[in-house]
Amino acid sequence: MPRVGKSVRLFASCLIVITVLSVFLISSFAARQPPAPFADGTSQTSQSPAANTPPAAATAPPRTNAPAASTPSAPAAQGYVGAETCKTCHAKIYDGWANTPHWQTTLDTKGGPSHQGCEGCHGPGAEHVAGGGDVSKIFTFKNASTKEINARCMTCHASGAQHMNAINSLHTQNNVSCISCHSPHNATTKDFLLVKKQPELCYSCHLQQKSQFEMPFHHRVNEGLVKCSDCHNPHGTAGPKQVRTSSTQDQVCFTCHTDKQGPFVFEHEPVKIEGCQSCHIPHGGANPHMLRVSNVNLLCLQCHTNSAPNGKTGGAPGTPSFHSQQTFFKACTLCHIQIHGSNFDPTYFK
Ligand code: HEC
Ligand code: HEC
Ligand code: HEC
Ligand code: HEC
Ligand code: HEC
Ligand code: HEC
Ligand code: HEC
Ligand code: HEC
Ligand code: HEC
Ligand code: HEC
Repeated sequence: MPRVGKSVRLFASCLIVITVLSVFLISSFAARQPPAPFADGTSQTSQSPAANTPPAAATAPPRTNAPAASTPSAPAAQGYVGAETCKTCHAKIYDGWANTPHWQTTLDTKGGPSHQGCEGCHGPGAEHVAGGGDVSKIFTFKNASTKEINARCMTCHASGAQHMNAINSLHTQNNVSCISCHSPHNATTKDFLLVKKQPELCYSCHLQQKSQFEMPFHHRVNEGLVKCSDCHNPHGTAGPKQVRTSSTQDQVCFTCHTDKQGPFVFEHEPVKIEGCQSCHIPHGGANPHMLRVSNVNLLCLQCHTNSAPNGKTGGAPGTPSFHSQQTFFKACTLCHIQIHGSNFDPTYFK
């Protein structure tokens, strides 16, 4: 008797598991049916389809049809007509688009029609087509808000280190949307679909920075050797000033100036603690080596005071008394050459 009870219970629980599983399967097939995310003009940032589709689950098609509906061969299903249909009236735009990386979206069978072709950005087009090009029946970017625009682009571009801070970036907060910098149809650059190439793109809003790169000593950004986006992530960063970086902003400098990274046997404390910017202006300035101070000695003497020659001042040892006390005594770095740190000498002579 207890044996029978056990197998009945086992059977019952199997039944429950099977029921739950099949409900889950059916609803996930239904959820895969792209839920016409943009039809109401609102944004769809969530990648979780279930959240958008409680009603769709009820009208789930028979299981056998489901896989077919999510392949590109049946795009007509949920108000999507496919890029080839758009081409019949927008041939020029279509041809341009077909030469951009966005053409690849047509290969995305997993995302289905809502992630393919023109409609990946403009939303379902069936009503627009049926209306002979009714512009009120298709999403246009013209009068859309930054939030709406970004949400659309980020249905596909939200992941990865490059974009993970885009939602709250300073650019987003200040209504600089994806299409302030990118143009899917009218890009002027070969790479990255930019509206203008760098640095002109950035200068169109950051004019003040232009003069910094025209200073006598500067990173050669205007000359095209270094790009703004080498140091900044225009899509936002976790740290300040959208610099690609650690808290001291130095990580970005080491991508090119690897020799300054160390670790050194004898570190020069400010390089590690306060960072490159305690001595250098990152964009450019009037002083050689982009130093903050016109004279190397003045820079050193800010910390290594000679008023207390052998005493310690704020962690930095005072300039020893056997050094000439004249401020314009030979450049300190004439002898203390390895000023960023040394593996051989505690006073950075070599
Ligand atoms: C039957 C022809 C026809 C087809 C097919 C068609 N369109 Fe249009 N579309 C038009 C016309 C006409 C206009 C309005 C005139 C214009 O601005 O070029 C238009 C305008 C637009 C606009 C701009 C709206 C605006 O406010 O400026 C977008 C975006 C657009 N179509 C996208 C699409 C997409 C995406 C498809 C495919 C899903 C598509 N169209 C298919 C005829 C068509
Ligand atoms: C990656 C997103 C994206 C894709 C894919 C896309 N568009 Fe657009 N479309 C835009 C944006 C953004 C604009 C606003 C103008 C601009 O920034 O270039 C636009 C504008 C338009 C316009 C208005 C006219 C204009 O140039 O301003 C039409 C028409 C249009 N798109 C049709 C299409 C058609 C047809 C396709 C497919 C061949 C397509 N779009 C694919 C994003 C996209
Ligand atoms: C339906 C998915 C989808 C949407 C929506 C989408 N993209 Fe893309 N985008 C792609 C794919 C796929 C690529 C090509 C592969 C890659 O570079 O990741 C791409 C590439 C890009 C590139 C890189 C081009 C290059 O030369 O490397 C830029 C820039 C870009 N998209 C901007 C946008 C902007 C701006 C929007 C919104 C107006 C947008 N995308 C909307 C799928 C999408
Ligand atoms: C302030 C200008 C600016 C804004 C705003 C901006 N981008 Fe970019 N984007 C760039 C530049 C510049 C590059 C080239 C980056 C480089 O050189 O590494 C780029 C590169 C890209 C790339 C290709 C590189 C990669 O690693 O994926 C994609 C995709 C992209 N942007 C999408 C977007 C999307 C989506 C948005 C909106 C959320 C956006 N961008 C907003 C300037 C911008
Ligand atoms: C060599 C790396 C580097 C390059 C190249 C670079 N920046 Fe910067 N930028 C920085 C650092 C580091 C800061 C942070 C300065 C600070 O915190 O005081 C900064 C700060 C900024 C700021 C904030 C305001 C300010 O001046 O402190 C803006 C805006 C800016 N950069 C724009 C640009 C633009 C535009 C370009 C290209 C024309 C560019 N940057 C190129 C490293 C760079
Ligand atoms: C359409 C205008 C526009 C364009 C184009 C643009 N920016 Fe910005 N940027 C802004 C605005 C607005 C802010 C926020 C206000 C501010 O701090 O200046 C900002 C902020 C920044 C900051 C942070 C400044 C700070 O004080 O923290 C950096 C860095 C920056 N942008 C770099 C760039 C780079 C690099 C490019 C080119 C790839 C670029 N921007 C293109 C408008 C723009
Ligand atoms: C994309 C590569 C790159 C990055 C990132 C970079 N630099 Fe540079 N830096 C260079 C190049 C290239 C030069 C050589 C300049 C020249 O000859 O025009 C240089 C030169 C310098 C110089 C010496 C100038 C001279 O006159 O001797 C200093 C100082 C400097 N960088 C500091 C920094 C700091 C600080 C950072 C981080 C905020 C940084 N760099 C990030 C490429 C880079
Ligand atoms: C304590 C001040 C100080 C700090 C901090 C500092 N530097 Fe320097 N840096 C100097 C001085 C002084 C010179 C000029 C050396 C000379 O006169 O020969 C210099 C020169 C340079 C040069 C050009 C000459 C060379 O050695 O290649 C580069 C590049 C440079 N620094 C990069 C950096 C980077 C990157 C950082 C951050 C890791 C950094 N500096 C931090 C003081 C500093
Ligand atoms: C922002 C402050 C600061 C600046 C600017 C600075 N230093 Fe230093 N320096 C320090 C600190 C802090 C130490 C570490 C003291 C310790 O480890 O006990 C140090 C250590 C040294 C030492 C090694 C002392 C020893 O025997 O341990 C020398 C030599 C030195 N600095 C030279 C210079 C020269 C030359 C310059 C100018 C190019 C300079 N420093 C700029 C703060 C600074
Ligand atoms: C002519 C070469 C020379 C010049 C130029 C020079 N120093 Fe020195 N410095 C030395 C010597 C030698 C020592 C002692 C090294 C030792 O003790 O092993 C030293 C030691 C130091 C120390 C370490 C003191 C301690 O207590 O450990 C500091 C700090 C220092 N110098 C700063 C400076 C500053 C700042 C300048 C520029 C105003 C400068 N030096 C210019 C040769 C020089």
